[in-house]
Amino acid sequence: MWGARVPLESLTYMSAAIHRPSQSEIEHLLERARARNLEEGVTGVLLYSDGSFIQCIEGTSASLDRVYRHILADPLHHRVFEILREPIEHREFGDWVMAFRSTGPEHTFEAEVGLSERLSAPRGVMSPVRHLLSAFWNGGMGHRFQVAVG
Ligand SMILES: Cc1cc2nc3c(=O)[nH]c(=O)nc-3n(C[C@H](O)[C@H](O)[C@H](O)COP(=O)(O)O)c2cc1C
Repeated sequence: MWGARVPLESLTYMSAAIHRPSQSEIEHLLERARARNLEEGVTGVLLYSDGSFIQCIEGTSASLDRVYRHILADPLHHRVFEILREPIEHREFGDWVMAFRSTGPEHTFEAEVGLSERLSAPRGVMSPVRHLLSAFWNGGMGHRFQVAVG
């Protein structure tokens, strides 16, 4: 536990939901996901908005491979597109085995303490992963640039 530092990686992907996921479908998903992530030492965040998921998972390379295999196999979504996988010095979302946020009014999940700050508008130097999740959460990938240019 306190010996040599284990190399960590983070993996971020986007996917399309097959249909609008219900509260109970998300509850079931999170229950299974959190149990496996806990076992694998994987942490991260999952966001849902208007038919799209974006998720970042962090852990050892082998644990990410195992967890990602389950993610890819889940029929709740498709068109899973890996955006970024890279070595990391420390976990960005180490507080959560899998934090979840949704813009869907049909989803009622308690907000994880501290997650809003991690998803707030980019300020200063941020990792590419935080830029991605923050852009997704704060109103779409293109909006911010339109405002900046206009
Ligand atoms: C959007 C999305 C995110 C997921 N995130 C995780 C995850 O973080 N960890 C994990 O182990 N499985 C994850 N899964 C997979 C499901 O939790 C799991 O495979 C599914 O609920 C079936 O459970 P079972 O494989 O135990 O039968 C995800 C699936 C989807 C659709």
